[in-house]
Amino acid sequence: MTVPRYWLVVPAAGSGQRMQAECPKQYLRIHDRFVIDIVLSRLLNSATFEGCMVALSGSDQWWPSTNSCADSRVTTCKGGAARCDSVLAALQALGHEARDEDWVLVHDVARPCLAHTDLSALMTGLAQHPVGGLLATPVTDTLKQAGPERQVLATIDRRLLWRALTPQMFRFGALRQALMSAAGAGLSVTDEASAMEHMGAVPMLVEGRPDNIKITLPADLALAGFILSQLPDQPVH
Ligand code: CTP
Ligand code: MG
Repeated sequence: MTVPRYWLVVPAAGSGQRMQAECPKQYLRIHDRFVIDIVLSRLLNSATFEGCMVALSGSDQWWPSTNSCADSRVTTCKGGAARCDSVLAALQALGHEARDEDWVLVHDVARPCLAHTDLSALMTGLAQHPVGGLLATPVTDTLKQAGPERQVLATIDRRLLWRALTPQMFRFGALRQALMSAAGAGLSVTDEASAMEHMGAVPMLVEGRPDNIKITLPADLALAGFILSQLPDQPVH
């Protein structure tokens, strides 16, 4: 049996509109380190990857100031207009090296609080799975369906609902095919799993920690700093 090979893709070409900061959120600092440096060092120091492709915006002017830019394990490529375009661009950039049957893990640059234990649960839990899957966490709030006037139309049964997190892990060839097919059909998929679902594949959910948050709104930055300081597998600095 051949040993599985793993590649890492980090979409980092977003501009962080909702964060309303003076720079994209991956270049804000937590405990004096860039978010993107925290994410990349945590991932690359926790598992062995054949390579790591980071998709950056064409107008990125901050990457050269990071520690990661001097890390020989990291390669960059130009991202696209939407997250799925950036991920596809990264897969294309790895295309001459990665094999179709290799695994690729896609992780948002805005999720610095990934615990090492969750990363290994995903990688070991799905190592023998034909399709792959994603970290996810059960929904805990009561969910309301709203009408056009914001009136409550229904309360949704949350027992089968999960929040999709990252990393998401799929076979390189199948994921590239799924993202190309979604792009061709004009579908703007917001995660890798939905591209795979459109192909008829059935990804698995691997339960992860709910504190693997995506920094999205201004209040999330301090929260991420707190979570990082509490993670059992820390230190970040
Ligand atoms: N992303 C990307 N390319 C894009 C858009 C997003 O690589 N064209 C990445 C972001 O950098 C981030 C992840 O996709 O790692 C999740 O996106 P999101 O949280 O929406 O980040 P932004 O798009 O930067 O933020 P916003 O939507 O608030 O502008
Ligand atoms: Mg976005």
